[in-house]
Amino acid sequence: MKNVLIVYFSQTGQAKLAIDSVMGAFENNANYKTYYSLIKPKVAFPFPWKYTEFFDMFPETVQGIPCEIELPAIDLAIKYDLIIVAYQPWFLNICIPINSFLQSESAKLIFNNTPVITIINCRNMWISAQEKMKRILLSLNSNLVGNITFVDKSSNLISLITVLAFILKGKKENFLGMFPKYGVNSSDLEVGKIYGNLILSHMETNNLPMLQTELINKNAVNIRSNIMIMEGRGSLLFPHYANFITKKGSAGSKERRLRVRIFGILLPTVILLSSPFITIISRLAPIFAKKKLQKKIHYYRQNLLKDM
Ligand SMILES: Cc1cc2nc3c(=O)[nH]c(=O)nc-3n(C[C@H](O)[C@H](O)[C@H](O)COP(=O)(O)O)c2cc1C
Repeated sequence: MKNVLIVYFSQTGQAKLAIDSVMGAFENNANYKTYYSLIKPKVAFPFPWKYTEFFDMFPETVQGIPCEIELPAIDLAIKYDLIIVAYQPWFLNICIPINSFLQSESAKLIFNNTPVITIINCRNMWISAQEKMKRILLSLNSNLVGNITFVDKSSNLISLITVLAFILKGKKENFLGMFPKYGVNSSDLEVGKIYGNLILSHMETNNLPMLQTELINKNAVNIRSNIMIMEGRGSLLFPHYANFITKKGSAGSKERRLRVRIFGILLPTVILLSSPFITIISRLAPIFAKKKLQKKIHYYRQNLLKDM
């Protein structure tokens, strides 16, 4: 009997849909026992978010400052054969609840010397968060053997509008009657079953180190070059603006509200204005910098950590 632990956070349920699709292969299989642990912050994050509340989360998320979480119901005496971490990026970093769990004493115990698979669900920007995840998992002495991403496949500008409408209104709808619903579409979630079967077959044959190559062949890792380029710029700038805000005060404080609000206007505006240019650059890049682009995409698809 093999033990599989699934640790996850979800605000609006998408992570659980992704997990259910992937883990279907393991349920009702007498050789496997699955354990689910939802990470719960002691003070729940709001949903729907208020505009300022949402952008006020930015500095602490980027700086990796943990929140208090309830003690997860995980049996620490079990040696797990595989741990699945299902998470969302927040502001190009690991969302606070999962990041907080990864910094806990329980994490030190269970991750040690254990294979890990990450399942990411998000709008479309996950690369920087996953680089941090690689680093943290290494520091916990675990072995990242798989990464699966579920993204919203709309254009970057469309999903920027629909995600903001969704998290501020709290409803998945055809915003203004003309935008598609935000989120991972059901046919993409359905494909999770294929990834689950791949994980299962690699566990059966004790061949998890070969898993990622097969996941990539089945398009489990979504990278679009324009989004990768834009995310790269953002991940360089974000820590500076996060420091600029925290210099004025701590989370939720009045003193920093002006800087938070400016960020809340600046971020969508910069994405809107720079998107067309970045799309042009990303179309030209395969002509002028084909090798560099391919090398980056190849690197981000796999699970090893190296300095680029
Ligand atoms: C505070 C916050 C920050 C976010 N930042 C990102 C991000 O950096 N990249 C991205 O692709 N999606 C981002 N999103 C969108 C989430 O990934 C999206 O809401 C998630 O898919 C919802 O998952 P859930 O239903 O499991 O809660 C953010 C959402 C929130 C609430």
